[in-house]
Amino acid sequence: MNHNVEVLADKTALIERSLELVRAKIDEAIQQRDRCTIALAGGSTPKPLYESLATFNLPWEKIHIFWGDERYVPPTDPDSNQLMARQAWLDRVNLDDANIHPIPTQGENPATDAQHHEAHLQEFFAISPGEFPNFDIILLGIGDDAHTASLFPHTSALQVRDRLVTVGNKDGQPRITFTVPLINHAHNVFFLVAGASKQQALGQIFAAEADPLTYPARLIQPLGELWWLLDEPAGRELAV
Ligand code: 6PG
Repeated sequence: MNHNVEVLADKTALIERSLELVRAKIDEAIQQRDRCTIALAGGSTPKPLYESLATFNLPWEKIHIFWGDERYVPPTDPDSNQLMARQAWLDRVNLDDANIHPIPTQGENPATDAQHHEAHLQEFFAISPGEFPNFDIILLGIGDDAHTASLFPHTSALQVRDRLVTVGNKDGQPRITFTVPLINHAHNVFFLVAGASKQQALGQIFAAEADPLTYPARLIQPLGELWWLLDEPAGRELAV
């Protein structure tokens, strides 16, 4: 694992740097593998990045969009990560529906929808159960409690090692999330973290010792490149 930590002056600089790196990794993936698979983060931090990506004329037919997690709400719900990304980016570019792979949230229940998405990923990547695909880019954020994707502290989702996708839980609200091993098989993982409210979580994530079940982002140790892009308010206490 190649570990990079950058503290940028402010959120604008953070988004500009993440745009530069993500575009470079998209180009690299297409050059090396003739396609790019990107799993998006939800929440608010990445929205300006998605809006900036919408202004570029990329080889959309070679780009496939996934989500690292999803709130278990309809895709029209204001809380939907899919809705945020469509409005900020995907609805503004010439991307076929076949290149957009949302996590289903309108089936029988979260567990069956997670199983359906697992099957879809296995079919898309042409892998068998037990194998893990290597996403080209996975974008992540962290919460004030150091959760990432929908891998929340002290939840069973943190322990899942034999599946690609599982059911997460935030204060009783179901979510569907990539698992730790799926994220850790990525070629490039980017954490985009902004705001002073993330300082405490970052301090524990970067500490020499801390319980990863309490600070789940510590579990993210990808085979490929790991990038932490922080704005100054979030990263000012880190000795990096
Ligand atoms: C979600 C995200 C989640 C998010 C963090 C940070 O579905 O909410 O995937 O993991 O990245 O909670 O969110 P902010 O960027 O809004 O701080």
